[in-house]
Amino acid sequence: FDNFVESKKRTAKPPELGSLVFFEAYRDIPFVFKRIYYIYGVMEGITRSHHAHKDLKQLLVCMYGAIEIVCYDGENKEYIVLNDPAKGLYIGPGKWHTMKWLKDDSVLLILASEYYDESDYIRDYDEFVRLVKEGYWKR
Ligand code: TYD
Repeated sequence: FDNFVESKKRTAKPPELGSLVFFEAYRDIPFVFKRIYYIYGVMEGITRSHHAHKDLKQLLVCMYGAIEIVCYDGENKEYIVLNDPAKGLYIGPGKWHTMKWLKDDSVLLILASEYYDESDYIRDYDEFVRLVKEGYWKR
């Protein structure tokens, strides 16, 4: 999957000091983030999201646990398991996506390119399919 973003990870010596991970705007991810949010406390087996964005760019990082992301651009559907806090998944505009908690207590951190704006959401699947057909994201 070409939208994985491998972070620059600094693993300490001795290893019991753990690792430090960072993502830098433009160097690692193709946008500057104005907002972070995170989702936690979701029960195993539960799926959230079911929407696409008109313009928003986001980086998803599973800080703890395991979360399956399904990403659909109107042509190809990808299934991605996030279970490594050193890896991010970039999701650009025009991707219908869902997030399924594979483990209780998993935490999903999201860096977003814009402030929260409900008018950027496409929450109706039929509308998403219509916009793909119209070439909305090809302009
Ligand atoms: P939403 O994006 O709908 O989450 P999901 O699609 O995974 O269920 O967000 C849930 C609620 O939180 C919704 O009422 C919008 C609100 N919200 C904010 O107010 N600010 C934010 O930054 C985000 C991401 C959501």
